[in-house]
Amino acid sequence: MNTANTHFETLSIHAGGEDRNPKNALNHPIFMTSSFEFDSLEHADATFEFETDDYVYTRGNNPTLRLLEERMAILERGAASVAFASGMAAISSVLMSLLKPGDEIIAHRMLYGSTWNLIKNILPQYGVGCRLINFADISDLSDRVTERTKVVYFETPTNPNLDVIDIAAVCDIARAKGAKVVVDNTFATPFFQRPLELGADVVVHSATKYISGHGDVIGGVAVAKDRDYASELKFGYMCEFGGVMSPFTGWLLLRGLKTLALRMREHEKNALAVARYLEQHPRVKRVYYPGLPSSPGHETAKAQMSGFGGMVSFDIDGTLAQSKQLVNSMKLFKLAVSLGDCESLVEHPFAMTHRGYTEDEVYAVGLTPSMIRLSIGLEHHDDLIVDIDQALSVIG
Ligand SMILES: Cc1ncc(COP(=O)(O)O)c(C=O)c1O
Repeated sequence: MNTANTHFETLSIHAGGEDRNPKNALNHPIFMTSSFEFDSLEHADATFEFETDDYVYTRGNNPTLRLLEERMAILERGAASVAFASGMAAISSVLMSLLKPGDEIIAHRMLYGSTWNLIKNILPQYGVGCRLINFADISDLSDRVTERTKVVYFETPTNPNLDVIDIAAVCDIARAKGAKVVVDNTFATPFFQRPLELGADVVVHSATKYISGHGDVIGGVAVAKDRDYASELKFGYMCEFGGVMSPFTGWLLLRGLKTLALRMREHEKNALAVARYLEQHPRVKRVYYPGLPSSPGHETAKAQMSGFGGMVSFDIDGTLAQSKQLVNSMKLFKLAVSLGDCESLVEHPFAMTHRGYTEDEVYAVGLTPSMIRLSIGLEHHDDLIVDIDQALSVIG
């Protein structure tokens, strides 16, 4: 398949692994095995030396996972990818592989809670310095990236306040200083945004979210621009830290990928309808959605994304207690962490995913304690709006 000239929708169903399906099953089988048998010691020798394409042990390689890794690399326009047990396994392994004692990481101030904890509290225990700054204004980023800076890290759009970071501009600055850029593309997915094409070195995903799309797995993927780096990440870090994905998870993610484009279009259509409804509601103070022209990140999002995604956050004109009452009043929206599922979900970051932040820290990173985050699912948007409307009416 000529992947360069084939559309995303086709690649997400067919790309990769053409010659590795011994029984011609239309759907690639799940290779649910820990080990692979060798014909002889000579065959084992050749496999250990990477002289054959064969397999040793699923913690290192597995045909189901290899197909997922090939497909993800093609969809993100990378050279190769590595599947992990979770998004955090992917993020922690990538950062450990790129940083050593004495180095420094610079990250955008707003990050998913566990990533923030890893960068702010765990990496410093291994001698890695960290600075969290606001990438929404990169006018002085060039001065801040020093010789010690080996990684520049951000999500875009960010979780949960949908900041949009100019990927190409940050990559230009980092490249000039010799730092690697790692982008968390979980919210946008490769259907809407491909950071490697804009200059990033590594893309990480919580595949738990839109790649799965059905809220039934935990998984992660890191896609690299450089094949040798991906190989080092796989055999030097994933394999040794042991954060390997189950082949069953890999198979479910391959299934999820087949409908990614369809789902993302629908998530976006619903999200836009909800964001527009919220924007005109008198009890809503601010809506965070890059698809709204009023959003500060709208122009950058339009330039680097082909769609704005399915996540919407908002602040009410009211108290913290009222924001909690609103969340408790929602019925169709399920109160749960995670995102990207068919079901619409609501969460209260300050009370849930970002509960590690103090009130001061929340404001310092561009959040508010009463912000509400919605993962807009695939139900009809009119029904979603009816639910939000009745919940808003409860707070009067
Ligand atoms: C943007 C983002 N990155 C990374 C993660 C971590 O992924 P996982 O839960 O699959 O480890 C999450 C989880 O919510 C997330 O929202």
